[in-house]
Amino acid sequence: MAHHPVTNHNPSDAEHFQDVLDRSRISRRNLVRGGVGLAALTTIPLLSACGGSDEAVAPVADTRASALGFNAITKSLLDDVVLPAGYTFSVVHATGDRLTSNVAAYGNAGAEMDDWSERIGDHHDGMDLFYVDANGRYSAAATNRAVLAVNHESSADAHYFHPRGQTTNGVAGKKFSQFGGSTGWDGGTRPALEVLKEINHHGVSITEIRRNASGRWETVVDAPLNRRVTAQTVARVAGPRAHLNDIRSFMVTAYDTTGTTARGTLNNCGHGKTPWGTYLGCEENWAFYFNNSVAPAGLTPKQVAGRARYGVPTAAYGATNRNSQGWYAVTPTDNRFARWDAATTGATAADDYRNEPNTFGYNVEIDPLNPTARPAKRVALGRFAHEAAVFGLPVAGEPLAVYMGCDSNNEYVYKFVSAAVWNPADIGGGMAAGDKYLDEGKLYAAKFNETGQGEWIELTIANPLISGYTVYAFANQADVFVHARHAATAVGATRMDRPEWGAVNPRNGDVYFTMTNNSSRTVAGTDAANPRAYADNDGRARTGNPNGHIIRLRENTTVKATATAFTWDIFLFGAEADASPGINLSGLSEANDFSSPDGLWFSPTTGICWIQTDDGAYTDVTNCMLLAAIPGQVGDGRALSVTNSLGGATATRQTFIGAALGDAKLRRFLVGPKGCEITGITETADGRTLFVNIQHPGENTPALGTAADFTHESTWPATSTAAYGPGRRARSATIAITRTDGGLIGV
Ligand code: FEO
Ligand code: CA
Ligand code: CA
Ligand code: CA
Repeated sequence: MAHHPVTNHNPSDAEHFQDVLDRSRISRRNLVRGGVGLAALTTIPLLSACGGSDEAVAPVADTRASALGFNAITKSLLDDVVLPAGYTFSVVHATGDRLTSNVAAYGNAGAEMDDWSERIGDHHDGMDLFYVDANGRYSAAATNRAVLAVNHESSADAHYFHPRGQTTNGVAGKKFSQFGGSTGWDGGTRPALEVLKEINHHGVSITEIRRNASGRWETVVDAPLNRRVTAQTVARVAGPRAHLNDIRSFMVTAYDTTGTTARGTLNNCGHGKTPWGTYLGCEENWAFYFNNSVAPAGLTPKQVAGRARYGVPTAAYGATNRNSQGWYAVTPTDNRFARWDAATTGATAADDYRNEPNTFGYNVEIDPLNPTARPAKRVALGRFAHEAAVFGLPVAGEPLAVYMGCDSNNEYVYKFVSAAVWNPADIGGGMAAGDKYLDEGKLYAAKFNETGQGEWIELTIANPLISGYTVYAFANQADVFVHARHAATAVGATRMDRPEWGAVNPRNGDVYFTMTNNSSRTVAGTDAANPRAYADNDGRARTGNPNGHIIRLRENTTVKATATAFTWDIFLFGAEADASPGINLSGLSEANDFSSPDGLWFSPTTGICWIQTDDGAYTDVTNCMLLAAIPGQVGDGRALSVTNSLGGATATRQTFIGAALGDAKLRRFLVGPKGCEITGITETADGRTLFVNIQHPGENTPALGTAADFTHESTWPATSTAAYGPGRRARSATIAITRTDGGLIGV
């Protein structure tokens, strides 16, 4: 919520012209009924092969559920994690916990020095689990030893990590959000220690967890695979062989004048787990860490257009241009700080950091089981505000597909299709397998047509809509990857209501995407795939599509990865239960009403579709939550007319909605503490431990004056567990949820 820019960097309306052309296309109903194969898979990918560990645990049966096995919990404003009867949780790790005994236990009063590269970062977000065999290698089969990789998204709450909040010009007690505005960085000089702490709590933490004697998973301090990747860790710039030199030309900085490497990863939000067992940390709102100390001299119109489309400032810092945490405002002679200044301060790009913003906005591959492997920025998957990267079901002998969202108002859904075909022998292949599958391939953007059909449009310089695009003059294919947002606009991709996570149903390969909300959606701007524009009827006065929806698609051809056409419908519309039926289109009740879906994940064991919220619209009534759904399939519902009324405008849109779930198949499972977002979810292979991240409890802490301000809204997890002490500053955390009877989660 507070971590997303309200500015719309996509003012184009190009897709509306395309919509006109598309109206005559093929009927979706015919294709659905025509029978794209729906056979359920009988094996669970990634859990069947390659054992080899002394600690290997027997494969689990396919227990995918047809019903939920818990009673829905009520909405909650408590400062605690609330679960159904029969469930309990423990904290696996929280912000500041140490990875090594080189550093002291976390004091949680802001007194730490520059040691965050040995601590768990902040703002836990996307995460995944990687089993480790007896030789310390990746295991596709379950063992009692695993590595948990967790994204640490944001510095929006960095005031917690200093004794009295953030400091500018020697004055402490400040709290500036990531995205400027009235509470943003004020332009003053910042202390080096504060900035280094803030830089290093970003990135990804990789920690070993082990199942203890009582069956609970615990973090192991000093474990050999413990590792931090921070906003300073050196990464390799990787991409297609034919375009790599062109790609590197965009990355030239004073740090690496060849553009071969780049430093760090930022704002890692959702994530991906590759079929070969590596991790993708996706870079989302990286643009807002940059500003210009002076007006950037000599930017060409093309460079201005390139920056503007991503929210990278084109003018000097000022009242209307308050992006960033002021990381450059320490000392310009130290490149750990100067790199955050995107101004033209040197003679050429090799003399300054004007290109540093080009080194962010990628999926960053990390091998969590090889602490010495250098991360790689996979440029072929495009540069945008990456939310998450989810693989289609891998099929031996067929290319792999990666589905991705760009999370900002009116941005797009993308697909990358590998040139290489999947070979299960690459499981455990680490970064070399990444080079094979993620450097060579095609990038597409999604267009959702009014017919309920959709198309994947390749982003290639060979397309005249791209090579002839007048808003941004593409030079070559590398430019298309690095400015993928412009390319997707050029081909008329559909402007969505903020694509957050994707997830793939292991039963049938259907691809789901959360559209979290869109404050800028107007009645005139609605379309079939983003069909609602309305006003919240009470409480928070939000308009547009304040509650969001979940869309899903099925590829139309037998080989799904390479399909260029798909069928779509809307799985669920978020809404308050007491909203009018014209807004509460999915008929949500008190047992399952929600707003702003964000995290999304299918359990391969139970088949449950887990939905997490990051909401600012319904938080007058409830904290953010986790819901469980038993999904059907694309096309199991009906056509629907939606009549929108907002700001004096009224219009009707046709869309397609999935079969109603009702209270039996959609239930609220968890509500988090005050001020938090629920995000990040994975599960042990036996389906008996569910890991969930609680991000930024206490986000609404007011401007700082006294120590008590830090505990004003939330003191979680201190409210839940003695291990984290009473009355302390709130912390993000990973929790492990189990059933008191040891059973499967959710069924
Ligand atoms: Fe970081 Fe799009 O949520
Ligand atoms: Ca309301
Ligand atoms: Ca998110
Ligand atoms: Ca979010």
